[in-house]
Amino acid sequence: MFSKKKIEDQVLVIFGSNGDLARRKLLPAIFQLYTGGFLPSKFIVTGAGSQEKDEAAYRNDVETAIREFLPKEAAAHADELSEFLKQVYYKKVHNQTRSDFEGLRDYLYELTDRLEIHRNIIYYFSIPPFLYETVAANLVEYGLNREEEGWKRIIVEKPFGYSYDTAIELDKKLHSGFNEDQIYRIDHYLGKETVQNIMVTRFYNGFFEPIWNRKYIDRVEITAAEKIGVGGRGGYYDDSGAMRDMIQNHLLQVLAVVAMEPPAIFDSDSIRNETVKVLQALRPIKGSEVAQQVVRGQYIATQVGDKMHPGYRQEQGVAPNSKTETYVAIKAFIDNWRWGDVPFYIRTGKHLPARVTEVVIHLKHAPHQLFKQLCLTQPNNMIILRIHPDAGVAIDFGMKIPGAGYKVHNVEMAFKYADLAEAKIPEAYERLLLDCMVGDSTLYARADAVKASWKFVDPIIQAWKINPDIPLYFYECNTWGPHEANHLFGDSYLKWREPGE
Ligand code: BG6
Repeated sequence: MFSKKKIEDQVLVIFGSNGDLARRKLLPAIFQLYTGGFLPSKFIVTGAGSQEKDEAAYRNDVETAIREFLPKEAAAHADELSEFLKQVYYKKVHNQTRSDFEGLRDYLYELTDRLEIHRNIIYYFSIPPFLYETVAANLVEYGLNREEEGWKRIIVEKPFGYSYDTAIELDKKLHSGFNEDQIYRIDHYLGKETVQNIMVTRFYNGFFEPIWNRKYIDRVEITAAEKIGVGGRGGYYDDSGAMRDMIQNHLLQVLAVVAMEPPAIFDSDSIRNETVKVLQALRPIKGSEVAQQVVRGQYIATQVGDKMHPGYRQEQGVAPNSKTETYVAIKAFIDNWRWGDVPFYIRTGKHLPARVTEVVIHLKHAPHQLFKQLCLTQPNNMIILRIHPDAGVAIDFGMKIPGAGYKVHNVEMAFKYADLAEAKIPEAYERLLLDCMVGDSTLYARADAVKASWKFVDPIIQAWKINPDIPLYFYECNTWGPHEANHLFGDSYLKWREPGE
């Protein structure tokens, strides 16, 4: 399940240690790694946040977060939780105050000396993206990037840049103090077991790959639907929108894994060499094509049962006339030998009826429809790679209904990933943190991939910005988004799947 490489002594510094991501995901993931016995004997976590607090107060916060987001595990491992908390430290750091980093350096040096821990340090940037460059520069200023006394790595959250140009600029700035092998661009979708399983499904078995191409595949649908709205994240989301928040990173990475060529060997470089080729082969959508190939939407206030959901424009931190999209559907093409002219339909949205992430491979019909006159239904041959929830793989095909005649019924053969796991399926952040700790970047996004996906989404975002004629469709909460998204299928009878949870 996890890497068998030896994990060296190390320190994890979390910038933004009081924030939502740290509380919800990072601290619980580290605790899970701790109880699973994956952390080295000498390991500490140092929160670096702008609030004034002492160690005891921060340990208390960490305990609260773990109890809130891992209630069962915290109760089952109460003794281990108190032991774990002894490895948690805190230093007040104001990210934009350069001299605070001198204090951080002295604090880390004093701690590592006292606890006799090697100065191997991961800095996790769990902070707003506009601070990435500043924090990196401040670390460099005080030599906190230097590797004479132990390696140093930075983990940078998405979004990596706001556009193609800013991503290049950010990359340049980070590289002025850190080498590529010190930079880990996290995309938590790549840490999902089920996304990695797509590679195993395709490349371990002999029978998927022969049909995994334009000859047998009619179209591919990739969906990441969420039931929740933007909640308290309106301030961040309004500058980002679904395109930057979900498509540019998570869903294009999933697409790359679905469409990549088999690597010759299974290592970080070979895999990433193949996924980047897919992103580079995405057919650009020109400004003039955006209205035909991309549909954007925004949720409006809706009464669902006895609950009134506010519209996106009424969410905290959102401009009252915001045109930010909370839903996007795209018809994309990958211009290469394997995928020539196979449409890839990609969509994501907030406040949809179900929380579902899946990839659906729709196979072409049999070349000759022998049973056309005898049955009413169309054959529906699909391979469904379910990422969340109920992770697994299902294959849908037609079977004869027993009895007279040749009536055919669509059936599903399903495998649930949970049936296979002896232990629990690890959270994406557990896997990714551990990978960074051992220096394995396979499941982190490489600079060229980030750039290639910006290159694809940038012209769409630009067209929305400059062309007021491209509509923003409004949709009610708890619906599958604007029905105009079905127009992406052209005049055919096809429409988006409406998967249940
Ligand atoms: C995050 C986005 O990266 O991914 C969120 O910023 C989104 O807006 C989340 O809700 C979805 O992740 P998951 O793992 O719940 O599918």
